[in-house]
Amino acid sequence: MAHRRQVEPAALANDVGHVHHQLGADGTGDLGEPGEVDGPGVGARPEERYQIESVRLIPSENYVSQAVLEATGSILTNKYSEGYAHKRYYEGQRYIDEIETLAIERAKALFGAEHVNVQPYSGSPANLAVYFALLKPGDTLMGLALPHGGHLTHGWNVSITGSFWRPVHYVVDRETQRIDYDAVRDLARKERPKIIVTGATAYPRQFDFRIFGEIAKEIGAYLLADISHIAGLIVAGVHPDPVPYADVVMTTTHKTLRGPRGAMIMCRKELAEKIDKAVFPGLQGGPHNHTTAAIAVALKEAATPEFKEYGRQVVRNAQALAAELMKRGFNLVSGGTDNHLVLVDLTNKKVIGKKAAQALDRAGIICNYNTVPYDPRKPFSPSGVRMGSPAVTSRGMGEGDMTRVAAWIDEVVSNVDDEAAIARVGAEVREYCRRFPAPGCLLG
Ligand SMILES: Cc1ncc(COP(=O)(O)O)c(C=O)c1O
Repeated sequence: MAHRRQVEPAALANDVGHVHHQLGADGTGDLGEPGEVDGPGVGARPEERYQIESVRLIPSENYVSQAVLEATGSILTNKYSEGYAHKRYYEGQRYIDEIETLAIERAKALFGAEHVNVQPYSGSPANLAVYFALLKPGDTLMGLALPHGGHLTHGWNVSITGSFWRPVHYVVDRETQRIDYDAVRDLARKERPKIIVTGATAYPRQFDFRIFGEIAKEIGAYLLADISHIAGLIVAGVHPDPVPYADVVMTTTHKTLRGPRGAMIMCRKELAEKIDKAVFPGLQGGPHNHTTAAIAVALKEAATPEFKEYGRQVVRNAQALAAELMKRGFNLVSGGTDNHLVLVDLTNKKVIGKKAAQALDRAGIICNYNTVPYDPRKPFSPSGVRMGSPAVTSRGMGEGDMTRVAAWIDEVVSNVDDEAAIARVGAEVREYCRRFPAPGCLLG
């Protein structure tokens, strides 16, 4: 992929012109002819341009580096390696063993973990592997309720994790919209779960892993910290670290950690064998070696001082976005954020979340509609939107840019039925985005 870096400026300029044509002069996000998506690049090129020209605020997304992309797209995908380093069921592993060991050692050093498995295909199968390793069918699993920020795989009923095991859920407090640790303790004492899951997909506050650890210990439960969203913030030291308190820590590698799509399970030595057996052969076959290599690359990047500064800036940016939105009369769940995301309750703006998210998309500002705690509306058309700063921070945007972005959000939400106003914002967004190279992308 290195040749893509050598694109001449003139060719780039032409490309950008082409992009504008494709995205539609009115900013309506026409992604070009279907033929292009079905061409040799299977849609990656138009998607790349789209990612360059939009403000991407989905908090679980990011831009990976060119080096991570290269590893992900490498010939390592050709190789089968069932088993673990030096205990494989296939021959020809001299390089693969080295790569997997490197990824594991880097993860151990970065997170201070005793044991690491880098083979889970993604976060959902990784959580499944943890439950499979530590629970029997029908055992009780306790996690944060999905409408309150928890993930599907924390035992929600439409997920296998909510039917194979007995789920119970804690919720956030109605007033503070934060986790009430006394209520969590009471529920744990009453329900006696075998595993308590902490971590979330839509919760704008920090987790107190120490208290979760105490609660789990008191009732003899395992504690699983799912840090998928916040792994990069933990590495940067801007979120408390679960490793001293949790029996198992799971993270996806593609969110704030800025690696390829994948996951890692970290655990105490005593649980290592159970976890490894649950991943392979319990749930999976051959590991995705190209992903393992890309995880190793991402972990090296995450160990740099620049990455720590990145993590700090992610939080500063989310807080700047929160402050400006609140100034403009937006209600934020829990009144702000101390991590990388904000949850906006649009009830007072009289715009439903889905409609707002779709209008924002037409203006090149990408977020997702989301339930808010105690949402009277249904998950497919909830009251809120979720926005975060990891991707825009990777492009070098700072607090001043977040003020600009908040103003656009306000303009779109205030004019949600006015296509001309939305197109005006869309044109400004595209122009603005060009100033910020997107890592790994054509202009990056
Ligand atoms: C907290 C949390 N856990 C697990 C997952 C599942 O990860 P994946 O989408 O890679 O299966 C997610 C993804 O959004 C998540 O936010």
